[in-house]
Amino acid sequence: MSLENFFKPKSIAVIGASRHKGKIGYTIFKNLLTRYGKKVYPINPKAKSILGVKCYPSVLSIKERIDLAIIAVPAKIVPLVLEECGKKGIKNVVIITAGFSEVGNEAGEEKLIKIANKYDIRFIGPNTLGILDNYSNLDCIFVPEEKMKRPKKGNISFISQSGALAVALLDQVAKEGYGISKFISYGNATQTDESDLIEFLAKDKNTKVIAWYVEGIKNAKKLMKILKKVKKPTIAIKGGKTEEGKKAALSHTGSLAGSYEIYKGFFKQFGIIEVENLRELFLAAKALEYYGKNNGKRIGIITNGGGFGILTTDKVSTLKLKMAEFSEKTKKSLEKKLGYMINIRNPLDLLGDATTDRYKIALDTLMKDKNVDMIIMVLISQLPTLEKLKSIFEGIKIRKPVLLVSDCENKEIKQIEKKYRIPCFSYPEDAVIAAKAIA
Ligand code: COA
Repeated sequence: MSLENFFKPKSIAVIGASRHKGKIGYTIFKNLLTRYGKKVYPINPKAKSILGVKCYPSVLSIKERIDLAIIAVPAKIVPLVLEECGKKGIKNVVIITAGFSEVGNEAGEEKLIKIANKYDIRFIGPNTLGILDNYSNLDCIFVPEEKMKRPKKGNISFISQSGALAVALLDQVAKEGYGISKFISYGNATQTDESDLIEFLAKDKNTKVIAWYVEGIKNAKKLMKILKKVKKPTIAIKGGKTEEGKKAALSHTGSLAGSYEIYKGFFKQFGIIEVENLRELFLAAKALEYYGKNNGKRIGIITNGGGFGILTTDKVSTLKLKMAEFSEKTKKSLEKKLGYMINIRNPLDLLGDATTDRYKIALDTLMKDKNVDMIIMVLISQLPTLEKLKSIFEGIKIRKPVLLVSDCENKEIKQIEKKYRIPCFSYPEDAVIAAKAIA
């Protein structure tokens, strides 16, 4: 059964829609009602109406068809309401409720699987934060918008076993301007696991990059089979690498975190890009969204700040990328045009009084050099001789990745990002981390 139906239902029931502001069931209902724009039914046997919408005691008392149900009632009632979903013919269910295998209630989870099998229900969760699709505006995340800014529409999809981690991260990436396609918190991965989600996102037309926070893998054989076919760049960050971390993962989502060395090997074998921390996850995702993977390791650096050039070079070495050896043709050409004042070497320091013309010459030359796989261009826009930044790129064919290090909030830099499809990073180290991911 395709997971697509979770993201564009024509009608939704929120089971456990609460009358009380601040409760999870209230927030989910409000978010769906205000953001989704399709039919949303509140289900609550104790309420007549919620936010002005007529309430139903059970999904069975609704005449119309329902495509998706979100369950936010206490764990002991979940089997009952899931059974009702089955009888109603609802095929897709998100179970927000916690209190299952993560606290030792495996029996409760088995009950859910039995009911789902009986009625052919596909469910995500339990113990999930919810799901979000920026293309259909489906948003059943139980955090209000005032507390968690929603990221703009984009092409990175993020799947996470941890919900709370994702809240903080999504809020941050929204503030930093990253674009998200889908977000899926899959909690205990009881029936719908990482394999199903990766397989689905690999075919999703709005997803270019898959970012994944993983504690444990539910079914390694199933995942291996799927990963062999996945062409889209997939980035993973592993939680529970240490002994203490493993114990935490077990009580968080009931995951067996396993040996980190095995995961590391697994990621490597299947071309999954592993990152060290959450910041790297999105730096890598950003660059991969622009350029995909396998771009080569040899970096050419252009800068108007000597120190920035050095810091970038240091990071290139630390991350085991290579400083490109410029070709003889490049050296001669640069010597002729710029050699009267600058040292022709990598990093190419165009000096603090660099003009856009100097940058244009450097960029054009390195763009044509076969020894350079990608270019990190430090552009300290605050320096006085730099004007009309956009003109650097005019007429230059971008045939290899260029990663800008600049003031990403600068209006002209934003225009460059959009018009020439060149990603900007605020710090040199960030650009190199991004370069490593696309290398
Ligand atoms: N069908 C529909 N609604 C029902 C119901 C039924 N059979 N029985 C009760 N309800 C209503 C309740 O009356 C209540 O509405 P009200 O506030 O208007 O009275 C609403 O459903 C919620 O039930 P309540 O008993 O108040 O539960 P709760 O809101 O305190 O907790 C959960 C419910 C799901 C939020 C809680 O059990 C839970 O799992 N919390 C953790 C969630 C989590 O962390 N998930 C993972 C995130 S990473």
